[in-house]
Amino acid sequence: MVRRREKGEPPEHIVGYVKFADLRLSVGPGVFIPRRRSAFVADLVIDACHASVVRPVVVEAYCGAAPIGAVVASRAESARLIAVDHSAVARRHARRNLPASARVVHGALPGAMTGVLAGEGVLGAVDVLGAVAPYVPSSRRDLLPAEALDHEPADSHDGGHDGLDAVRGLIAGTRRWCSADGVMLLECHRDQAGVARLYAQSHGLGCRVRHSHDGQTAVVEVRVARDHPPG
Ligand SMILES: C[S@@+](CC[C@H](N)C(=O)[O-])C[C@H]1O[C@@H](n2cnc3c(N)ncnc32)[C@H](O)[C@@H]1O
Repeated sequence: MVRRREKGEPPEHIVGYVKFADLRLSVGPGVFIPRRRSAFVADLVIDACHASVVRPVVVEAYCGAAPIGAVVASRAESARLIAVDHSAVARRHARRNLPASARVVHGALPGAMTGVLAGEGVLGAVDVLGAVAPYVPSSRRDLLPAEALDHEPADSHDGGHDGLDAVRGLIAGTRRWCSADGVMLLECHRDQAGVARLYAQSHGLGCRVRHSHDGQTAVVEVRVARDHPPG
């Protein structure tokens, strides 16, 4: 283990777990390590679950090891959970981190989401969708710390030219995937949030940006309903 660490492997991959919120989640080589800052989006997902129907349909898109889903499973037990990722390694860890009742599904997003939801019988019925999609601009990936650059999959970071390809893909699916009162909560960098909000508004969607207390993280909150509180 010390030798692996000396070579720069992240401690979480070596010991096989990461602490996230108040949970201990399985991770390992080949999977993105959930970041502490993403507890903010997980908290907002929980709030949305509690404000939703009795048994909300909750989707974690680009789930990786499924940190959002794991928090939902522990704090909104009645939710019906679906987690989607195209990586087999990520899905293996997600299955360990979620209860057996959760569905962990392969899908190349955003294109595959419609088929995944139809297959699960919840197309147009998603109450809450949470995601930490890849959102690093392609040209900025080199600036990531070596631990991330060398030991996490490139496609877990690379969000295209401005970093928002996956976020835009999810926003564009809101109306087709979500229930009338559905909400999407999408983490991004604070400097990207304004662009994402304009994109959502240009699709006639309700949108506001939530900022974490430390100012590091933004979450774009997108709703089918247009009478969304301004923000
Ligand atoms: C930034 S990581 C976030 C993982 C998890 N949400 C978290 O916070 O730990 C992004 C995830 O998206 C997955 N991914 C990247 N491109 C994808 C695609 N086109 N379709 C499905 N999953 C994708 C990667 O495998 C990775 O697990």
